[in-house]
Amino acid sequence: MGILISGRGSNMEAILVAVKKQNIPVNPTVVISNNENAKGLKIAQRLGVKTEIVPSSGFKGSRWDYDRKIIRVLQKHEVTPNNGLVCLAGFMRIISPGFIRKYKNRILNIHPAILPSFAGLHAQRQALDYGVKFSGCTVHFVDVGVDTGPIILQSPVQVRDGDTEETLSKRILQREHKIYPQAVRLVAEGKVTIMGRKTIIRNLDR
Ligand code: GAR
Repeated sequence: MGILISGRGSNMEAILVAVKKQNIPVNPTVVISNNENAKGLKIAQRLGVKTEIVPSSGFKGSRWDYDRKIIRVLQKHEVTPNNGLVCLAGFMRIISPGFIRKYKNRILNIHPAILPSFAGLHAQRQALDYGVKFSGCTVHFVDVGVDTGPIILQSPVQVRDGDTEETLSKRILQREHKIYPQAVRLVAEGKVTIMGRKTIIRNLDR
């Protein structure tokens, strides 16, 4: 498994800790960041996972040129389209159709809203501005749209009067740290089948 990050890396940490503690049947071989200053890089190293930086700032080529570099790093660490899983964990780049096609149904993402509401950037602020009473988070397979792929797990979080972007984000994040490792386990154990837009999950009882 490879994990792609851009910053803090708290979802990455939740996945890495859960993989170890709860015996999730995946082998995290690499954490890749597009940002050399990502805090998550140090956390990954502390947890004994190799890290790589593929800088995106100042990169002159196309999106696909950049993603080909990521794919080369994934393959170097034996994260292949057949046996590998790629988790986007706060990776703040749109990935190219070429990457998605190559790792078809092997790329997961977490988004801090109940999709399809509030896709894209600043999901928690969008939810507050809209005035919804519940938001939450979603783990989904990545397809060629932005935050549109088949949904694996969602968890609702109540919006409180007086919530700010910060307070709501914090409560959603706690939930993200639960459902992302759960989703990784379900996919790793082969319990998730994709049927068009839907996923069917066997034994959703843990
Ligand atoms: C998380 O809240 C994640 O859901 C969000 O970025 C944050 C990353 O935090 N992702 C997106 O908004 C993607 N559209 P982390 O680096 O601590 O995991």
